[in-house]
Amino acid sequence: MDDLDAVVSIHTAACAAAGAEPDAVGGLLARFNGWARAIQLPGKTTLIAEADGEVVGVLSMESDAPGTALELSQIHVRPGQWRRGIGGRLHAAYVQSLQETGVLTGLAGVWEHNDRARAFYARLGWRPDGTVETNGDGLRRLRLRLEV
Ligand SMILES: CC(C)(COP(=O)(O)OP(=O)(O)OC[C@H]1O[C@@H](n2cnc3c(N)ncnc32)[C@H](O)[C@@H]1OP(=O)(O)O)[C@@H](O)C(=O)NCCC(=O)NCCS
Repeated sequence: MDDLDAVVSIHTAACAAAGAEPDAVGGLLARFNGWARAIQLPGKTTLIAEADGEVVGVLSMESDAPGTALELSQIHVRPGQWRRGIGGRLHAAYVQSLQETGVLTGLAGVWEHNDRARAFYARLGWRPDGTVETNGDGLRRLRLRLEV
């Protein structure tokens, strides 16, 4: 929880740099609450990446029930620190969690227009499973699967 402010700041900056709409005040509050739950609730795990004592990246994962697929819910690296291997290091820790818990299937979602994140996931072995959800603005979110 000591890192909550830094985590929210990275998530907000990463979304802005990735071209998402700016948050309304209510959206920012929801983001604080969402991360507080992710950090504190059982079944959810949050990892941070640090460089020179600063938080530079965050990943969250969750499992609905032990032994079922472990979802990679969020991954964000501070803009300005991209393409330095930080996301890859966080992802390697996620894969280690998959292996340690004996869950060998990873699940994630990515917006179709987020070319950067799609390239990141593809490089790390994720493949679309064919499921597509469309939000109220007509934006498509692809489900990805990773077999380790
Ligand atoms: C996606 C994200 C987490 C990647 O983090 P990162 O620290 O830049 O990733 P890495 O440096 O470890 O990249 C690992 C590999 O992914 C691929 N990759 C990453 N960014 C890429 C880009 N912009 N274009 C093409 N490939 C890319 C590359 O193969 C890269 O390896 P390389 O640099 O040796 O070629 C980061 O760009 C981010 O925070 N984006 C905004 C938030 C976001 O979209 N999150 C995902 C939401 S679903």
